[in-house]
Amino acid sequence: MKFGGQEFNFSPRNRWHWAGAAGVLVIFLSFIGLFHQFGSTTPIQISGSNSATLDNYRPPEDHILQPSNESTTAQYPISKFHLLAPASGKHFRLCRAIASGVMLGYPAPVFNGWMKEGDLDAELVPDSDDDLVLMIDSYDVVFQYSPDVLIDRYFALTKSVSTKIASRFGFDAPDGLIGDDSPRLTILFGPEKICYPVDDTRIGCWAAPSDIDLPIGAYGGKPDGGFDNNPPRWLNSGTIMGPVGDMRRMFRATVELINKTYDAGQEFSDSDQKYLSNLWGYQEYWRSVKARQLYFHGDVDASEVVPPGKRMIPTTEPEHFEYHMGVDHRSSLFQTRVGSEHVLEFLRFNETNEHGHYAWVDKNVGNSPTFRPFKIMLPLSLADAIRRLLDSISSSVSDLPDITAIQLHTNLVTKHVYGMFHCIGEKGYIDDLWSKLWFYPWVRPLFEAGVKSLKEEKTIAISNGRTWKPARTLPKDSHQTGIEAYGAWADIDGGWLPWQDLCGEYEEQVFGAKIHEGNV
Ligand SMILES: *[C@@H]1O[C@H](CO)[C@@H](O)[C@H](O)[C@H]1NC(C)=O
Ligand SMILES: *[C@@H]1O[C@H](CO)[C@@H](O)[C@H](O)[C@H]1NC(C)=O
Ligand SMILES: *[C@@H]1O[C@H](CO)[C@@H](O)[C@H](O)[C@H]1NC(C)=O
Repeated sequence: MKFGGQEFNFSPRNRWHWAGAAGVLVIFLSFIGLFHQFGSTTPIQISGSNSATLDNYRPPEDHILQPSNESTTAQYPISKFHLLAPASGKHFRLCRAIASGVMLGYPAPVFNGWMKEGDLDAELVPDSDDDLVLMIDSYDVVFQYSPDVLIDRYFALTKSVSTKIASRFGFDAPDGLIGDDSPRLTILFGPEKICYPVDDTRIGCWAAPSDIDLPIGAYGGKPDGGFDNNPPRWLNSGTIMGPVGDMRRMFRATVELINKTYDAGQEFSDSDQKYLSNLWGYQEYWRSVKARQLYFHGDVDASEVVPPGKRMIPTTEPEHFEYHMGVDHRSSLFQTRVGSEHVLEFLRFNETNEHGHYAWVDKNVGNSPTFRPFKIMLPLSLADAIRRLLDSISSSVSDLPDITAIQLHTNLVTKHVYGMFHCIGEKGYIDDLWSKLWFYPWVRPLFEAGVKSLKEEKTIAISNGRTWKPARTLPKDSHQTGIEAYGAWADIDGGWLPWQDLCGEYEEQVFGAKIHEGNV
């Protein structure tokens, strides 16, 4: 496939590595099944927004406490953090994904659709609607920072975007916009620089908001100079994070949309991203209609809200169109590969001023004729989180580096160190990335320390006034310790898949030298 003069090799199969449409349906249904026992949605309360000064810009943070201090956490209500990884079979990249997860402090993963077997009922733990779920495309993802930073950024971002949405609808703050059908952001997706599957008539493509607060040209070149230069406007479904209740509601609506529009003869009929991005497209289209009606008090002509061109335009307003979906355009949490390689660099935050550590950047991505090198600040919460991880292995490892000696993979345009990398398309990039990530020299000790934390069911984060615990830890009856004690839960019967069975044959790729292999 050719875009903007570059060759890309997208997997012909859908992203969840399922063969056929049934697979896509099953994955959604199984997700609903996983949480089906719980009742109505209690939306997460949105209040206030974060501010950041432009000098020494640093991403917003709302750390309340260090998660390591168990003695102070009791006063906050407990919520759970779920890690869901649709996975159908073994692969070394799956092992790297879950290894980076345990090293950095993520919950034990639940594999959906393991070996494509079983019915859809999962063993259920007492979750609630405002628990958080992170769903990852487990063959193409590696984590870079820990879940406490991820959860903090999730709340900072969803609050600030919800405030902006509220303002669009005439509210000063989003506090009043509660209930399922009110516009706000709770479900965050990864960004994409082209609308994939490509189809300009599709609502998931043309209804994507064009104003994402990043100026045209920031990614370089001319706006028409190929999709490397595009702003990351579109939705990528390989990384998704949101509250259980809202996620369940969104996946139900997606299954209904598949049911209504599925056509096996169509290209990409099995792409989960196609349906999810269309659902988001409907939401954005109807938001635009509502925002106009707020001022013109009458029927809205499609031409007032639809960009020119051949479009499939919805005619009747559905009963529900608001699913609180949105995109992490700035890659504060999720960074995808295609079209972004030229803005990603490993930075060493080895300079210090009164605000903290920073790195100098001398790459002129935006092709400014008067470019001057600029600073990117290392967020304090991220520095603290990495220091805590290094501290956790200090008894077994000598000569641990200072934070200023570590390299972090950073988006030079948005100035964010991202939380996880999602490798869309060709896989050489993520295979090479593994041994460059900051934790690579200490994979084994960090892995062991992570297993110990999971075994002790340690708190993951204190964020948004809640104590976050891992939804899944390790089997209670296990006598194993160290790396051998890790593994994953299969959704089918809640069964445990031990690390040795899953990844024993790939230990060299995880712990040892980097390797190059073809695509899955
Ligand atoms: C934990 O918090 C308590 C109460 O705020 C404080 O007294 C104690 O020093 C803290 N412990 C650590 C290890 O930070
Ligand atoms: C769609 O839903 C209807 C009604 O529940 C059902 O009869 C039909 O089989 C579904 N179609 C598909 C393709 O799942
Ligand atoms: C920081 O790191 C960069 C790149 O590795 C290097 O060029 C620079 O000299 C370093 N600065 C300091 C103060 O060590």
